[in-house]
Amino acid sequence: MFRVTRRYAFAASHRLHSGELSAEENRRLYGKCNNPHGHGHNYVVEVTVRGPLDGATGRAVDIAALDELVARDVVRPFDHRNLNREVAVFAGVVPTSENLGFEICRRLKRDWNQVFPGKWPKLEKIRIGETARNIFEVSADEIE
Ligand code: NI
Repeated sequence: MFRVTRRYAFAASHRLHSGELSAEENRRLYGKCNNPHGHGHNYVVEVTVRGPLDGATGRAVDIAALDELVARDVVRPFDHRNLNREVAVFAGVVPTSENLGFEICRRLKRDWNQVFPGKWPKLEKIRIGETARNIFEVSADEIE
């Protein structure tokens, strides 16, 4: 069984602010990330796929097919966007990298069979690098 990781990137802005918390609680919890005018990140998204080696192709995953899926579901809808205002799900969900990871995983799982109709490969996990120091990882198996 192979695990293949492909790295993608997009730039987006966001503001961390929860409607379930007071203004003061938001400031205390999120600090400068609660700035009303938002701020940006150069996000790096690593998509890890697992599957057996295909004897005919010598590959475990069709990278071009994966690229097409990630471009359609993640890079094009998120790149150079304000996540809070331009990505519908984040109108009501705080666009932390945890929630961003959850949303990316949910989208890829939703459309996976269109691109990979066979038993393999499967989506294993995604990792989001929000900054050089903040890495967030979510396993596809743990998401509905
Ligand atoms: Ni931020």
